[in-house]
Amino acid sequence: MHKKLPRSITKAVFPIAGLGTRFLPVTKASPKEMLPIVDKPLIQYAVEEAYAAGIRQMIFVTGRTKRAIEDHFDTAYELESVLEYSHKQQLLESVRNITPDDMHCMYVRQNRALGLGHAILCAEKLVGNSDFAVILADDFMVAEQPVMAQMVEQYHQLQKSIIAVQDVPRSQTNLYGIVSGSEVKPGLFGMSSIVEKPSPNEAPSTMAVVGRYILTSAIFDELKNQQPGIGGEIQLTDGIANLLRKEQVFSYHFSGTRYDCGSKIGYLKAVVDVACNHPEVSEPFSRWLENKAQSTHTQATKPNPANYIA
Ligand code: G1P
Repeated sequence: MHKKLPRSITKAVFPIAGLGTRFLPVTKASPKEMLPIVDKPLIQYAVEEAYAAGIRQMIFVTGRTKRAIEDHFDTAYELESVLEYSHKQQLLESVRNITPDDMHCMYVRQNRALGLGHAILCAEKLVGNSDFAVILADDFMVAEQPVMAQMVEQYHQLQKSIIAVQDVPRSQTNLYGIVSGSEVKPGLFGMSSIVEKPSPNEAPSTMAVVGRYILTSAIFDELKNQQPGIGGEIQLTDGIANLLRKEQVFSYHFSGTRYDCGSKIGYLKAVVDVACNHPEVSEPFSRWLENKAQSTHTQATKPNPANYIA
C-alpha cells in the first residue's frame, strides 16, 4: 500500500483591512501595511516570508484605502521602462522581484470591520479545503530561518493547526491571545486552551499568540458559527478555541525576534534594527546612532548651572 504523502501549505492569507488607527494620521489614506522598514513595506516582508516557506498563492483580505497594496504587487510598466531606459538595473530588479513569476496574488474584500475571525472567513472561497497559513504583517519578524518556514517544517510532521507564540510580561496578556498547554518536544506544545486578551490575573499563562498561524480548513466551520467575542468582534482566537474541542492544535515557540509594528515604539525599534544591518545604510547610520547616544549621554551628565543657584 502507498503511504499518503504529507500535505503541504500552498496558500497564505494576509488580513489587511484594518484601519490602522494607532498610526493616524499617516494611515488616513494609506494602508498601515505599506509603512516602510527602511525601503520595503511591511506587507512585502510578510509576503517574502510566506514565499520563503514555499507558499506561492497569496490571498489578501483587503478593504477601502488599501489600493496601494494591490499596486505594489502588480507590474509597474511605466516605472520599469524608465528604469530600463536609464540602465538602473539594480533598482529594476528590486521592483521586479517583488512578484516572482511563480507567485499568484488574489484579493477579496472584507467590506465590514467585524474582526480577524471574520477576515479569515472572507478568504474561505479562495482557500477552499486546503490547510493554510495566516500572516499578520504588523507582527514583523527577523529570524535566521524565516518564522513561517519554521512552522511549515513543523506542519510537515504534524499535519495539524500550529500557532506561533512567544512569552510576554504578565502585565501585557490583555493585548494578545493567550494559550496554555504542555511541551511535547522542545519549543512545541500541545494546546489545551486559548483565550483572547485575558486580564493579567485571569490569563492561564504568559504564552502569547503572535501573527503567524497554520490552520486546518476546519477553522472555517468554526468561524461561521462564531458569535462576536471581546470587543464585539468575531475573534479568530474563539474559532481556534472551538476547533480545539474537535482536533489537536499545537503552539510553537519560534526562534527569532518579533517587533510589534502595530505600535509606534515597536515600529521604530524595527526600523532602527533593520537599518543597522542594511547593506546600504548600516555603516553611516550606526555611526550616527552611536554619536547621538554619546551626545545624549553627555548632555544628561553635564552639570546643570540651575542646580548651583541657591
Ligand atoms: C490579534 C489577535 C491576537 C494576537 C495578536 C498578535 O490581535 O486577535 O490573538 O495575539 O493579533 O499580534 P490584535 O493585535 O489585532 O488586536
